[in-house]
Amino acid sequence: MSEIAIQDMAASLKGRDFLGLVDYTPEEIRYLLDLAIDLKKKQKSGQPFQPLKGKTLGMIFEKSSTRTRVSFEVGMYQLGGHALFLSKNDLQLGRGETIWDTAQTMSRYLDGIMIRTYAHRTVIDLARGATVPVINGLTDRSHPCQALADYQTVLEQKGKLQGLKIAYIGDGNNMVHSLMMGAAKLGMHMAVASPEGYDPDPEVVKNSRENAALTGGSLLLTRDTREAIENADVVYTDVWASMGFESEQSAREIAFKNYQVNEEITSYAKKDYLFMHCLPAHRGEEVSEGVIDGPNSIIFDQAENRLHAQKAVMAALMS
Ligand code: CP
Ligand code: NVA
Repeated sequence: MSEIAIQDMAASLKGRDFLGLVDYTPEEIRYLLDLAIDLKKKQKSGQPFQPLKGKTLGMIFEKSSTRTRVSFEVGMYQLGGHALFLSKNDLQLGRGETIWDTAQTMSRYLDGIMIRTYAHRTVIDLARGATVPVINGLTDRSHPCQALADYQTVLEQKGKLQGLKIAYIGDGNNMVHSLMMGAAKLGMHMAVASPEGYDPDPEVVKNSRENAALTGGSLLLTRDTREAIENADVVYTDVWASMGFESEQSAREIAFKNYQVNEEITSYAKKDYLFMHCLPAHRGEEVSEGVIDGPNSIIFDQAENRLHAQKAVMAALMS
């Protein structure tokens, strides 16, 4: 990218929200991925990069988190700024203060807000009320920060994204929605195998397919795990019962019993396939121990890249 194109890109991202990859062009996503890789190099070589000196990110959590909380907090510190952990129950939001009033008030103190919540509507409403960038740190519908870090990880490992095949086996949840949209924007071929009743949202499927048609990518939905995994460069899975769906655990164990990623099914993927999982994982459920702890697994590179990818997002939006 030329210096002018980089400047134009930086200007177009400044002040934006990061609610979903759907709102970002393929070029913007590539820019964020390249920036993430660059910031990772800088961090590893001890070169300071602190464009957010004196700035504060508020982090609202309505659900548990290990990676998102720690990586945003550390990322903000490394960028020269500061992060505040705000549990929903400790905020007046937990006692009925409106999202609008919360967003307006917080915008008077903060330079950005990251939120992890249940209803996707809450993030949209927060962004509508806030005058500072809002970042989606996971909703029931999507998890774009994770998908961005994941595609950074694949790009680092394979040297490209365009044309690669990613297979996702499991629940049609927030994670697969963001992966589908990312794959479509990046010209990848994605195959999703889920049991009946656990398909991804048809609207996200339709939107992903429309985007894939523009980039040379594709999206296949199937019940057949072997069909999905055949010849895959990347094999991805996630928990059977996401946060908020714990009461369905035993019903889901039955529905998903033939959807485990294990040594048998991954034998149909490419020899040098990458195994990925956003974590936290349940060994022996969605993935066998041999696969998640085996030589093809890159789960901790993914986890690490949450830090670098989110630093790229914060630097781009909040500088
Ligand atoms: N992958 C992920 O978002 O992890 P946490 O729930 O620990 O933040
Ligand atoms: N689908 C999982 C992802 C956790 C990072 C959940 O929502 O619980």
